[in-house]
Amino acid sequence: MAFNFDQRIDRRHSDSLKWNKYADQDILPLWVADSDFRSPDCVIEAIKRRADHGIFGYGDKPVEFLDSAVAWLASRYQWHVNPEWIVVLPGVVSGLNLAVRAFTASDELTVAPTPIYPPFRGAAKLADRAQLNLPLKLQQGRWLLDLAAAQGQMSGKERLLMLCNPQNPGGTVYRREELQAQLEFAQQHDLIVCSDEIHSDLVLEPGVQHLPFATLSEDAARRSITLMSPSKTFNIAGLGASIAIIPDEKLRARFNQFRRGIVPDVDILALTAAAAAWREGEAWLKAQNDYLRSNRDWLVSQVNTMAGLSVVAPEATYLAWIDASALGVASPALYFEKHGLGLTAGRDFGNDQFVRLNFGCTRALLDEAVARLRRAVAARP
Ligand SMILES: Cc1ncc(COP(=O)(O)O)c(C=O)c1O
Repeated sequence: MAFNFDQRIDRRHSDSLKWNKYADQDILPLWVADSDFRSPDCVIEAIKRRADHGIFGYGDKPVEFLDSAVAWLASRYQWHVNPEWIVVLPGVVSGLNLAVRAFTASDELTVAPTPIYPPFRGAAKLADRAQLNLPLKLQQGRWLLDLAAAQGQMSGKERLLMLCNPQNPGGTVYRREELQAQLEFAQQHDLIVCSDEIHSDLVLEPGVQHLPFATLSEDAARRSITLMSPSKTFNIAGLGASIAIIPDEKLRARFNQFRRGIVPDVDILALTAAAAAWREGEAWLKAQNDYLRSNRDWLVSQVNTMAGLSVVAPEATYLAWIDASALGVASPALYFEKHGLGLTAGRDFGNDQFVRLNFGCTRALLDEAVARLRRAVAARP
């Protein structure tokens, strides 16, 4: 079946966070991580069918949603999840915050990579926990954790290792031996691991496979909370159905204790949409990833010809983490904004000399973005 990712859909006047930011300005919104693609028809049809029922009372245990999650994880990742391990959440960020509150005491630390998706820092900050940041280093074109450097910084009060795999903003898909090193680090320091794998379906690099941290071994499963969602995959982030997979009963009970009464049940239409996406969305996803790979390759090839900018091809995600440190401007994000490009400031992730560009958009929009980048670079002081 053919899918048309070139179709331009006007998202202004749709209460879109991404598009509202620059509503009345000639600035291309290439920031927050949602794509501009229409969700697969199976999702839209499922929502319509459920809406036609006309009654939207409280939902019960979402059996269809859980079954489709289990089937998706088995077929894509050979991960055989017991539905009882799944805690349904209205968002992955709530999962990050719950994990910090449930698994660290007030005098304990979280450990997270840097640069990192800002809510990783936010989760520690909001709970008033200190966080140890482990720098990512560029090694042979991939952003990797420097665990050896981290060893000397551990105080013994660290309790929760927060992973992001695939990594946002670096796009790294960790290989088995890299995950194994992170597991050994967790074992050595007796850490619980919260692994945010929201971008796992968006692997673009040929021959590379996402490997859930929890599938490394029984011990990895026992000490882990894995956060996943179809929201980035199928562009349904505004609906918000997400899951935490927690194989260990005690960890799960504690997580649930912090969730109950505070985190609401997930919207019934969101569950319907997510179940349909997981059940029937595979062909659409494959086509989307082909389109994204082509966008990625084009963007990376262009950016790396621009003086002052460099980027490595993200192995996954539709986010390019662009190094603008050689550009010679104080704030690259503000500089590009003045040249009509709404990028995410690297400052929020822990490095203000970088910007993050969301290439989950039509090729025509990306072409315009590349042209503006080129003009901006040519105009620098
Ligand atoms: C790594 C990561 N985790 C979580 C989220 C957001 O999750 P949610 O919208 O389900 O709270 C994002 C969105 O950009 C993300 O990149």
